[in-house]
Amino acid sequence: MRIAIDGPASSGKSSVGRLVAEELGFGFLDTGLLYRAITRRAIDLGWFPVPTTAAEVAGVAYDQVRRDLTELASATDAQGSGLSFTIVVDGTPLSDAQLEAADVELFVPAVASIESVRDALRAVQRSVATRGGSVLAGRDIGTVVLPDAECKIFLDATAEARASRRATQRGYAVGSAEHQAILASLIARDAEDRARPVAPLIAATDAITIYTDEIALTDVVKQVVAEARRVAR
Ligand code: C5P
Repeated sequence: MRIAIDGPASSGKSSVGRLVAEELGFGFLDTGLLYRAITRRAIDLGWFPVPTTAAEVAGVAYDQVRRDLTELASATDAQGSGLSFTIVVDGTPLSDAQLEAADVELFVPAVASIESVRDALRAVQRSVATRGGSVLAGRDIGTVVLPDAECKIFLDATAEARASRRATQRGYAVGSAEHQAILASLIARDAEDRARPVAPLIAATDAITIYTDEIALTDVVKQVVAEARRVAR
């Protein structure tokens, strides 16, 4: 059984996915970490900012960055099992703290829009999903990575609700400058993820959409577990 959980940034995919996997004894992979890991490595290697002017994008420099990022993606692996995977890029393991940084969030949609990067990471994601029962969370799991997943969920919530949740998780006061920055970053990232031509953020036609604004995390988990048990019958 494979459970695909997609949705915009901070919609609760990772918290819900982990708890659902725990309840069912499945493995869990937050696929956003793969895109974040490549972005982190590229920033640390001094490859960013990527070319952004039309002339640069059309030129050789952009092709080179794209090739380099694809090479990094080909050298990326999710090591571990069950609920605990470590993302390793070219032999370097990356911690959650390294992957959550604001500079990663600024550049990750650009990295994730490169088709050859996505192709390389799809193989990693599918290999995790072949190891028994699995829950994968991301943007294109139900549409592209696991189009035959038995259970597909799309988690959604307003940007305001998602930003408040994220700010609270990180210990920032509601209405603080940090909270406003989180909201702006979420909105920008979602817009880029939805607009990209390759594997955009969109609900699969056969996904069940759950709006989480007004629902407690534990109730969302119950709904997903119930749906997984229903399709397994
Ligand atoms: O889920 P998370 O916020 O960690 O994802 C970081 C970024 O990785 C997203 O904004 C998106 O650009 C990219 N991503 C993706 N496809 C996935 C998971 C994440 O394009 N399946």
